[in-house]
Amino acid sequence: MNLTAEEIQNNWLRLIGFIEDHISEPRKTKVLEFYKQYSERLMLMPAAHKKEYHNAFPGGYVEHVNRVITCALHLHELWGQMGADLTTYTKEELVFSALNHDLGKMGSEEEESYVPQTDNWRREKLGEDYMFNTKVPFASVPDRGLYLLQAHGISYTFNEMLAIQTHDGLYDEANKKYLMTYMPEQKPRTSLPFILHQADLMASRIEFEREWLPKFQNNLDTQKKSFTLDNNKKSSPIISATKAKALSTIKSEGLKTLLDNL
Ligand SMILES: [Fe+2]
Repeated sequence: MNLTAEEIQNNWLRLIGFIEDHISEPRKTKVLEFYKQYSERLMLMPAAHKKEYHNAFPGGYVEHVNRVITCALHLHELWGQMGADLTTYTKEELVFSALNHDLGKMGSEEEESYVPQTDNWRREKLGEDYMFNTKVPFASVPDRGLYLLQAHGISYTFNEMLAIQTHDGLYDEANKKYLMTYMPEQKPRTSLPFILHQADLMASRIEFEREWLPKFQNNLDTQKKSFTLDNNKKSSPIISATKAKALSTIKSEGLKTLLDNL
């Protein structure tokens, strides 16, 4: 998938809009300064280096982050409707965490994490349009993201730290200490990490489907249709015969009519 220059520009403006609308002063100014300082890099970054992963194309990073923020805002409403305690975190914490959850993917202040692939074989055979930049010393994505924020004087709350740190859920073994504890007092005191993880999972899955399902089109079964008992009644003579036999054993006419209409 490729984005046009206009789409990349619009996605960037949307991302800045999320900061303008949801991050409060005095932090907003610092966050905007940071994003403006690295705008060219962030605007064109892929979200991953391999096609097999999600959004591995120019502009894929911002497109992914915008989707995660949007999913997180919707999931926030849903968790609230289902009874989660939304007073344990703020909407600003939700948007700040979603905005910066993958920030560590940008690399160090001097060097980008992903650079164009120089090996033609890997590009053609493995679909790797990008490769890791070996000049960047290793750090996990959450650790690097949190480092970059503090290095630019952008403070974050305890909730935001926890959500960014654990946004990969149990896909990252290091998160077990936060997410797999059976001690109530050690469990997160807010649903924010779970909501952010769900939002990231949802966005990544949608990006995978968009990229790969059309390529598998010839291998897929015919499109699934909604199944109802009504379809079943018309299409299955075996079930109809079984049902008729079962109904013949019922004496109550009222009950017979009721069951026959199911
Ligand atoms: Fe992500």
